[in-house]
Amino acid sequence: MSITYGLIIGSGWGHLPGEDAGTDVGTAYGKPSAPVHRLEFGQMRVLTLARHGEGHSLPPHVINYRANIVALKMLGADAVIGLNTVGVVTSLREPGQIAIPDQLLDYTWGREHTIYDGRRGRVEHIDFTEPFSVGLRRALAAAAGKADIDCYAGGVYATTQGPRLETAAEVDRLERDGADYIGMTAMPEAAIAREVGVDYACIAMIVNRAAGRGDVPIHDDVEANTRAAKSATMSLLKAFFEAV
Ligand code: HPA
Repeated sequence: MSITYGLIIGSGWGHLPGEDAGTDVGTAYGKPSAPVHRLEFGQMRVLTLARHGEGHSLPPHVINYRANIVALKMLGADAVIGLNTVGVVTSLREPGQIAIPDQLLDYTWGREHTIYDGRRGRVEHIDFTEPFSVGLRRALAAAAGKADIDCYAGGVYATTQGPRLETAAEVDRLERDGADYIGMTAMPEAAIAREVGVDYACIAMIVNRAAGRGDVPIHDDVEANTRAAKSATMSLLKAFFEAV
C-alpha cells in the first residue's frame, strides 16, 4: 500500500508548480491555514498546505496547527514533511544549507498544542522521546545521500514563540540548552502529528545565522540565503518522492 504524504510549506514559498485549485477543509478544530492542494511529485500525489496562509498572513503563534495536521489526515495523509525556515546557532551548518533535525526543544506558549484538550473524554501521553519520525528522517536522509544532496541528518531544533526574532543573550541560552537551529513552527506541529498518528519529519531550511552570531543584519542574511536553501529543499523533495 502506498503512503500519502502531506507537505506543510513554510515561509519563502509561493504556490508550487503543478498544484491543483485546492480543497477547503473544515475540521473539529476549525479551518486550516489555507486550502489543501494536490500535486504530482514524480509518481507520488502529495497534499500541500501553506502553513502561514496563501497570502503569508498568519504569524507562527496564531497558526491553527491542530486544524492543519487534522485536515491533512482527513484527506488521507499518513506522513507529513514540514518545511521550516530556521536560523543556525552552532557550526553544524551554514545559511543556505538544509538539515533534518532529530531533536526538539519547545519554548512556545499559549498555542493550542494538543488534541487532548479535555473534549475527547480521555488523555493520552504520547511518547515523544523521538519527536521526529525515525523512519521518515532516515528515508529523507537516504534520498539525500543517494542523490548527493548536501543535507545534514541531525541537530536540535529549538522552537521559539516569535514573531520577533531572539536577542543575542537568548541565543546564547538556547545554545547552552543544546540548540543547533532556531525556528518558530516545528512545535506544536510535530506533537500534534504524533497525537493523531501521522509520521512527521522536518526539513530545516537554514536562512540566517541566529541573532548575535552573524556579521550582517539578520534580514539581509535571510534575503541572501533563502534561494539556496529552497533549491536544496526542492532537490531533496524530488529525490525523496522519486525514491519512495
Ligand atoms: N530565529 C527564529 N526563527 C527563525 C529564524 C531565527 O533566527 N530564522 C528563520 N526562522
